[in-house]
Amino acid sequence: MEKKKVAIIGVTGSVGQEFVQSLNDHPWFEVTQIAASERSAGKNYLEAIRNEGGIIMWDVGGEIPEYIKSMTVRKVDDLDTSQLDLVFSAVESQAAIDIETKMAAELPVVSTSSAYRYEDDVPILIPGINDEQAELLETQKKNRNWKGFVAPLPNCTTTGLAITLKPLLEKYGAKKVMMTSMQAISGGGKSGVSAMGITDNIIPYIPKEEGKVRLETRKILGKLINGKIEDADIRISCTCTRVPVIDGHTESVFVETTKEINPEMAKETYNQSNKDSSVIGLPSAPKDYYAFHEDPTRPQPRMERTVGDGMTTTIGRVEKEELFDNGLKYMLFSHNKKMGSAKGAVLLAEMLYKKGKI
Ligand SMILES: NC(=O)c1ccc[n+]([C@@H]2O[C@H](COP(=O)([O-])OP(=O)(O)OC[C@H]3O[C@@H](n4cnc5c(N)ncnc54)[C@H](OP(=O)(O)O)[C@@H]3O)[C@@H](O)[C@H]2O)c1
Repeated sequence: MEKKKVAIIGVTGSVGQEFVQSLNDHPWFEVTQIAASERSAGKNYLEAIRNEGGIIMWDVGGEIPEYIKSMTVRKVDDLDTSQLDLVFSAVESQAAIDIETKMAAELPVVSTSSAYRYEDDVPILIPGINDEQAELLETQKKNRNWKGFVAPLPNCTTTGLAITLKPLLEKYGAKKVMMTSMQAISGGGKSGVSAMGITDNIIPYIPKEEGKVRLETRKILGKLINGKIEDADIRISCTCTRVPVIDGHTESVFVETTKEINPEMAKETYNQSNKDSSVIGLPSAPKDYYAFHEDPTRPQPRMERTVGDGMTTTIGRVEKEELFDNGLKYMLFSHNKKMGSAKGAVLLAEMLYKKGKI
């Protein structure tokens, strides 16, 4: 099988580096072009990620893959779209608006940015959760007269919440959700959080994050009806905080359900969802989509972040919630740079490829 030729835009950044790793020796996709800002353009990859002090700023575990080391980083305008089948975009949202618009006119774009997430004809996709909303991409192509499309993932804080709520919503209904996040430093990107600011500290505010989580969760858990997404009817309150953890977001969740639920029923529901998962068999899918723990000391970022190579969502501390007639409280862990961005985007591209959209 001839591999699809792909480009990574934002390849030098925190998420871009994870893309480099996630696409190393990929069975279906081959990275043939890479791009970043003017600052990096024209340099080979190693030079582009070297800082002013001469240090190579490789943030991902393991060695830098050989295939990327001497590849030249281009300006976005210098990408040869005629030689590409797919673009992965990992740039901040303001720059992403122009970049993704230009690329989608020609090619499918799978994005980790928020540039297009809130448009009516753009689904926010989590592979394994709302695959059926991918049909909206056809409407998007027609509406905009594009050859390609933009398929964004959610914000990395939404990912774990939507993933854990979906099976509960389907079986028990979900009326109200209250969530407090403890988000990793790497979620802010390579220049997002200063070491002085986060060491021995908790930052109780992340700009725009809470609004994103509310909007995105309702959209992802909504239904595609007559070419439009009808948001799920769930009230969501959240508080997003940054904590001194390198990778992986932990969230404390309270959910009020329509029907009676208890931890044993939740465990069975997640176990069944593991068996029914639509991503089983895709190259980047984990063995278990969900890990359910009865040990009250889980989830812990240091223990969970390597499970399923960061693609498994962990659930623990599951208890019946006394505040509601029916409901649960639990804690979750989701890896912001794996399932929550780069490798999740690769899994999304695999799902779209399987559906014949790439
Ligand atoms: N970090 C996470 O956990 C996470 C999770 C989910 C989603 N996201 C989203 O993913 C995107 C990337 O985040 P990040 O954390 O990787 O950011 P980052 O570390 O700041 O990296 C940004 C990347 O974009 C490039 N870039 C900036 N302006 C550009 C332009 N005008 N044209 C082309 N390339 C440009 C940068 O290139 P230079 O090196 O040349 O400046 C760098 O490669 C953001 O939209 C973010 O919200 C991040």
